[in-house]
Amino acid sequence: MSVIRDILNFNRSWAESKRLRNPDFFSRMAEKQKPRLLWLGCSDARVGPDKLTGLPYGSIFVHRNIANIFATNDLNCLAVLEYAVDELRVPDIVVCGHYGCGGVKAALEHSGIQPIDLWLDQIRFIYNRHAAELDALDEEQKARRLCEYNVTAQVYNICRSTIVREAWKRGQKLSVHGLIYDMHNGLLMPMGIEFHSFEDWQQERLASHFTNGA
Ligand code: CO
Repeated sequence: MSVIRDILNFNRSWAESKRLRNPDFFSRMAEKQKPRLLWLGCSDARVGPDKLTGLPYGSIFVHRNIANIFATNDLNCLAVLEYAVDELRVPDIVVCGHYGCGGVKAALEHSGIQPIDLWLDQIRFIYNRHAAELDALDEEQKARRLCEYNVTAQVYNICRSTIVREAWKRGQKLSVHGLIYDMHNGLLMPMGIEFHSFEDWQQERLASHFTNGA
């Protein structure tokens, strides 16, 4: 049986069961979206947020790309962030990395001029900032640590965007969090990095000036 037939069969029974439980479900959903968070995650097939978070249908505004990068020169990333913050007014943004990320591994292994190489240059840039520490680790630990640094860097990229800073300045309630997912045990873990206000972010920037934290 083809995957498309599987999808259509599943979808018919899912829609039917939703309608049976609540006849207004789809008409209410169709009126407007009101997501509770913006999720920036990796495109990896195993890290989709719906299953990991357990939030109900319609709760997550999603952006995914290879290695969960918030590229500050990428219109796609910026448009998603702008819409999520300015129009949908999501109160929370999650950057979710994952151990075993193929994009992070590839960035450590080779470089080149293919689109994916150029995209992953952004990971190599993070690696270079932390090369002294990372080069002292074995290959597996190095990749894990780089996955973590990547989450931190993308949280920073989001916080330093005009979109988020302007939202904070006008008093909008908005928090940015870094999480990492471990595919070996199915657990999401907080990275201990989160910012809730412009003041929060300013303090971190002053501190990271001395520690080179991102
Ligand atoms: Co990945």
